[in-house]
Amino acid sequence: MSGSSPAIDTYDLTKWYGAKAAVRGLSLRVERGEVFGFLGPNGAGKTTSIKMLLGLVRPTSGHATVLGGPIDTPSARAKVGYLPEHFRFHEWLRLDEFLDVHARLNGVPRAERARRILELMELVGLSAATRQQLGTFSKGMLQRAGLAQALVNEPELVFLDEPTSGLDPMGRRLVRDVIHRLSERGVTVFLNSHLLSEVEVTCTRVGFITSGQMREVVPLASALNGLVRVTLHLGTVDDALRCGLARWGRLVDEPGADPRQVVLDVPNDECLPEIARWLVGQGVALYGMAPQRLSLEDLFVRIAGSDRSWETS
Ligand SMILES: Nc1ncnc2c1ncn2[C@@H]1O[C@H](COP(=O)(O)OP(=O)(O)O)[C@@H](O)[C@H]1O
Ligand SMILES: [Mg+2]
Repeated sequence: MSGSSPAIDTYDLTKWYGAKAAVRGLSLRVERGEVFGFLGPNGAGKTTSIKMLLGLVRPTSGHATVLGGPIDTPSARAKVGYLPEHFRFHEWLRLDEFLDVHARLNGVPRAERARRILELMELVGLSAATRQQLGTFSKGMLQRAGLAQALVNEPELVFLDEPTSGLDPMGRRLVRDVIHRLSERGVTVFLNSHLLSEVEVTCTRVGFITSGQMREVVPLASALNGLVRVTLHLGTVDDALRCGLARWGRLVDEPGADPRQVVLDVPNDECLPEIARWLVGQGVALYGMAPQRLSLEDLFVRIAGSDRSWETS
């Protein structure tokens, strides 16, 4: 396994349940250190995708690697963390016991366990509940305990399936902070969510999935430096020119648009002068360049249409 291999690489990953395709033709590459958001309505195929990546669900076709190899080896599993969507807890265990069980299951050496567990409880804000039984925990506390559990093996790659479900605003913020800290340490995070706002503030890139199919993947340079859709009005446009422009972002096809117009989604507006210079260098007449800030919501509406019913938690 080489350190430069992507964190996740899938090719045409597909899962059928009877006559229903839960996930269809998922091809996705997530680089190490990314915080990737997988966004889509309930039933879109997010959990099934994660489970295929974890080797918990066998794909009908296609294949996937994590951290450069197949997931179904002990050494690969040891580097991966997972917070399942509906995590089941052993109610009779105390928090420290629960984390110790999971640390042992992950082969964390005894000398290391106590230190790491203290650190994790601190990280998820549960230090005061160390010796409390899980059965007495609120839903939010359980979710945090689950998050600590997902990190107990100090994973290189963490899958979080709807990590803020059941959390109040403080809890959501905590999850966000934990994700930022993981990201600072170079950990790759794969986050499933049906909440636009959550993905928008947390992720470096987001994929939209509906009805089992990935519709679009967009970079989010940062929450402050949002996406820009720039419309270029040019003298002439050919395929080579469109190809050249695609290096800065994603070409948007707008049916029926003026053929001398190119619409491009770019990660931020810093590349606009560069694009203008390049066009001039190509000898193309540039009549206009109209940038427009794009929110994730704008993009999402375009992809999911007018059905916003699932967007609430
Ligand atoms: N074990 C299963 N058996 C049959 N259908 C399933 C199973 N798991 C998921 N599905 C179906 O696959 C689709 C995708 O589900 P899921 O991956 O859980 O979506 P999401 O996590 O995006 O809400 C849904 O229609 C769901 O009903
Ligand atoms: Mg799900």
